[in-house]
Amino acid sequence: MNTKKNKGRLEVVCGSMFSGKTEELLRRLKRAEFAKQNVLTVKHSIDKRKNMCSTSISSHQGRERNAFIINNSPLSIEKIFELANPNIDVIGIDEIQFFPQEMIGVIYQLIDAGKRVIVAGLDLDFRGEPFGIMPALLAVADEALKLKAICVTCGKDAYHTQRIVNGKPAKYSDPIILVGAEECYEARCRNCFEIDQLPSFVTPSINKENMTSL
Ligand code: TMP
Ligand code: MG
Ligand code: ZN
Repeated sequence: MNTKKNKGRLEVVCGSMFSGKTEELLRRLKRAEFAKQNVLTVKHSIDKRKNMCSTSISSHQGRERNAFIINNSPLSIEKIFELANPNIDVIGIDEIQFFPQEMIGVIYQLIDAGKRVIVAGLDLDFRGEPFGIMPALLAVADEALKLKAICVTCGKDAYHTQRIVNGKPAKYSDPIILVGAEECYEARCRNCFEIDQLPSFVTPSINKENMTSL
């Protein structure tokens, strides 16, 4: 019996909006094709931004690539196994933050089956909280790249994505999902980011207000 295993790998590209995540994903997929590899491209059905073709992933710079649309239903997610047939070497998935927990197991099994999986998505939501399945994927990734945009207010590296509603910073209690681009989002550094509540990982009982030195 041949027991030699040939597992694949997981690469994660994350960062704020406008940091070039989709550009980087497209670049890696293009390079794989130059190397004569077969690529499967997947995107989430949620992402229907204006000027965006619903069957392709596109970067803010306008670069595009045809993609299979997957939604959150188990049947749709399972379809990836069918699409990732033995001929497929590389699987690229954009907007990974929108997918449910089940996607982690699907990615794990694809890697087990020898596929190189490259995912791109937001590490933080507009509240500054880790976004969906991204933290788990970063933990199991073979390679992770965190990209930075430029803060529109001061020009420093942008760590956050600021959501703007009616000209004002969105409230922490607003819904997490709001599809959009420049009309409702800006890249901001930590100094210029505005939100009305601390992230949930700051424990109220262990708070700097209880200390005099900070
Ligand atoms: P992008 O990272 O490719 O620019 O796209 C991110 C998408 O995620 C965009 O449609 C806006 C959406 N989004 C949310 O739904 N909630 C959020 O908290 C943030 C920051 C973005
Ligand atoms: Mg993108
Ligand atoms: Zn700034």
